[in-house]
Amino acid sequence: MPVIRRAEPADALRLAELAELTFRHTFEAANTPEDMRPHCATHYSEAIQAREISDPQITTLVCEHDGQLVGFAQLRRGRPPDRIKAERPAEIQRLYVREAWHGKGMAQDLMSASIALAKASRADQVWLGVWEHNPRAIAFYRKWGFAEAGEHVFPVGTDPQCDIIMTRVLGPR
Ligand SMILES: CC(C)(COP(=O)(O)OP(=O)(O)OC[C@H]1O[C@@H](n2cnc3c(N)ncnc32)[C@H](O)[C@@H]1OP(=O)(O)O)[C@@H](O)C(=O)NCCC(=O)NCCS
Repeated sequence: MPVIRRAEPADALRLAELAELTFRHTFEAANTPEDMRPHCATHYSEAIQAREISDPQITTLVCEHDGQLVGFAQLRRGRPPDRIKAERPAEIQRLYVREAWHGKGMAQDLMSASIALAKASRADQVWLGVWEHNPRAIAFYRKWGFAEAGEHVFPVGTDPQCDIIMTRVLGPR
């Protein structure tokens, strides 16, 4: 049975591998190798994951099954885009699940844990950016009560892609 827990420094290498694998699975077909390579190199090394795991502004959750990391989510506190009007916003910076686990409730559990964390840190709104050509993720976020609130540019290599910004207001704890 998969278990969700906070990432520890010792997870950095496995998390880097999972993050790059799931990013490539999701976006490789729609991007050139020339754009994918620098993006992965600058986002998914062991050192970068170690830094993010120990960053006090970021909480990284991993989902482990039979000793293997199968999904992860990252919640980040920090300055949101101007269009997000919230006093204490939290960003779901990443939410990725191995393909074999899509549609099986793991993403739901990661989202539920992320929202619980956001509420525990007194966030009043959660927001995220999702590529305009990622219909499954957009459908998933809509199911969770997120609504479109604009767009911003998310560069992948040299490609300035359009991310839809989605937000959900959080009720009291
Ligand atoms: C996005 C992700 C976390 C969602 O988890 P999931 O387990 O696949 O989500 P669910 O199956 O609960 O929900 C997805 C919904 O999209 C629907 N869907 C599937 N393919 C779709 C498509 N091509 N277009 C529109 N909707 C689609 C599903 O039917 C489902 O809706 P339903 O429950 O009403 O039937 C997961 O797919 C994932 O890790 N994807 C790759 C990484 C990624 O894209 N992360 C998000 C980056 S912002």
